[in-house]
Amino acid sequence: MNIEPFRIKAVEPIRFTTPEERERALEAAGNNVFLLRAEDVMIDLLTDSGTGAMSAAQWGALMQGDESYAGSRSFFRFRDAVHELTGYKHIIPAHQGRAAERILFHSALKPGDIVLNNIHFDTTRANIEVEAAEARDLVIPEGWQPALVHPFKGNMQLDALESTLQKEGDRVRMVMVTITNNSGGGQPVSLENIRAVSRICKKYGKLFFLDACRFAENAWLVKQREPGQQARTPKAIAQEMFSLADGCTFSAKKDGLSNIGGFLAMNDDALADKCRTLLILTEGFPTYGGLAGYDMEAIAQGLKEVVEESYLRYRIDSIRYLAEKVAGAGVPIVQPPGGHAVYIDAGQLLPHIAPLEFPGIALVNALYLAGGIRSVEIGSVMFGARQDGSERAAGMELVRLAIPRRLYTQSHLDYVADVVTAVGAKRSELHGYRIVSAPRLLRHFTAQFEPMRVAASR
Ligand code: F0G
Repeated sequence: MNIEPFRIKAVEPIRFTTPEERERALEAAGNNVFLLRAEDVMIDLLTDSGTGAMSAAQWGALMQGDESYAGSRSFFRFRDAVHELTGYKHIIPAHQGRAAERILFHSALKPGDIVLNNIHFDTTRANIEVEAAEARDLVIPEGWQPALVHPFKGNMQLDALESTLQKEGDRVRMVMVTITNNSGGGQPVSLENIRAVSRICKKYGKLFFLDACRFAENAWLVKQREPGQQARTPKAIAQEMFSLADGCTFSAKKDGLSNIGGFLAMNDDALADKCRTLLILTEGFPTYGGLAGYDMEAIAQGLKEVVEESYLRYRIDSIRYLAEKVAGAGVPIVQPPGGHAVYIDAGQLLPHIAPLEFPGIALVNALYLAGGIRSVEIGSVMFGARQDGSERAAGMELVRLAIPRRLYTQSHLDYVADVVTAVGAKRSELHGYRIVSAPRLLRHFTAQFEPMRVAASR
């Protein structure tokens, strides 16, 4: 059955805007769509994080929230739901994924340490670098080639992992695998690859953590694509993935199907103690970690719904539906489509715009002006700033159309495809941007841009 496996109980109006209104709004936002008011956006594909629709069962669970400061019933419900999936001994709630990252890295890393990952997400990298440690990406080479079709482009390069551990093992504090690999196109990691990483980490005595934000989408893609996995449930696949690692960080804003929340989970007693101490200092008591009791209720229910086959089939099929329409219009995308988003290869689409003139920003802004669609650049603005203040081109210039969970209908996706097609047809008219001001760290959120055409005519 290829229809949405839900009907809609509450609706939220979308405000339609004119091209003139959008032009004014974008200019006022310094040409950075992060700085727009959400009201000025018609279809918001900035992120799939915290933006999904909760189910009636989740809204119902909110009313069951126990707001006791310590030992609340909601914490135990949350802990049991997480434990059932992950099996980890220590489950530490946090207000979102990056809080879990900060607590883990501040507790585990010292200056000069290295963390290996397929590709670090931006907050993950920043939370490692802020500890004066190094975040090194070891995804397979196929993972850097947008057009290349490979079922598991999120896989770790196992020989590079092993040789790094041989040569610089003293400095490697932990190995992570991000499922799905968001910064590399939402691409899954195979179970076989996770098993191998686990084996190598055991051999060298290294901690192995999953960045498990989109574990259910990864499990579904394993079920679809990995030989021998078709008969298993997504839940059983997810449970095996977690069992292969020593712990995980998690943002419940993705596969927790919730608007806020996250957790850090692990088996190591000493590290968990250290993390809990820091948690109390900055997030809250270990039975709420910065969350309301009702948030933990929503997450506990969300974690049950997210591994349902009907949901995951719809979810991944709707990504593929949009991907096929966009690619069919001659707009190059990361192939094959992955878990939570369609990634347009802006570098390939706009070869006349140099990487450091930010083809991704050119496309993001054009999509907003043409159709009120908000997307996000994952390219040289996000990843091009180096610690010493210089710039270098990122490995890929992508624009992500992230699809919030259960939020938009197929007709909204048809509209998105039409707008992308129209912008793709005018690709030669798009121009680059230069940065007018930007902070040193995580500059993509607040940088201000100026169109190159305007700059040149001044
Ligand atoms: N790890 C990955 C792979 C992520 O995609 C994100 C967030 C985080 C960690 C941090 O989690 O937002 O709860 O603090 N990704 C969002 C995105 C923001 O748009 O892809 P958070």
